[in-house]
Amino acid sequence: MLDAKVRPATVADTEALLVIESRCFTSDKISPRQMRYLLSRGVALNTVAELDGKPVAYTVCLVPGQQRPARLYSIAVMPECQGRGLSTLLLTSLIEQLRQRGCQRLRLEVRASPSPARTLYQKFGFTLLKKLPAYYEDGEDGLRLQLNLLNGTEQS
Ligand SMILES: CC(C)(COP(=O)(O)OP(=O)(O)OC[C@H]1O[C@@H](n2cnc3c(N)ncnc32)[C@H](O)[C@@H]1OP(=O)(O)O)[C@@H](O)C(=O)NCCC(=O)NCCS
Repeated sequence: MLDAKVRPATVADTEALLVIESRCFTSDKISPRQMRYLLSRGVALNTVAELDGKPVAYTVCLVPGQQRPARLYSIAVMPECQGRGLSTLLLTSLIEQLRQRGCQRLRLEVRASPSPARTLYQKFGFTLLKKLPAYYEDGEDGLRLQLNLLNGTEQS
């Protein structure tokens, strides 16, 4: 099984997370300034997965309060580390933390075209909330998905 360590991400992880971000996305990237803000101001629940002491995957999730949905702002895994269960580990940990905080819904946006990310979210039980025409910088449509955290298990 995967020998990964999952821990909270801090502002000290900014550079490492930006490297993962730049390896995973070609557009709609989190800027260095935005990343520092997200990691430093307590506005988000951020988690990093390490292999051999090196950050290789992360989640950034905005948590506005119990009554409002949390928003998975970004999830990314270094290309050479994909397909080994890291995002499953991170998402499972995030969902557990959100449930402990009493958060009832988790939302995210994803590109409409088929992708590992869409398959991942389907596996966790996210359902379609809204279609978002031309949502991305390159004009691709997006989908807003939601997971009801009050439901039982995910990963059907
Ligand atoms: C999407 C992403 C986060 C998945 O991370 P990962 O660690 O490789 O995923 P896991 O190994 O935990 O796999 C979890 C599930 O994702 C889906 N999945 C992962 N890789 C897949 C692939 N190449 N093709 C289809 N489905 C895939 C499967 O449902 C898989 O479950 P299974 O192993 O039971 O079939 C990763 O591919 C990534 O970082 N992509 C680039 C960034 C990105 O697109 N982020 C999401 C933005 S919305």
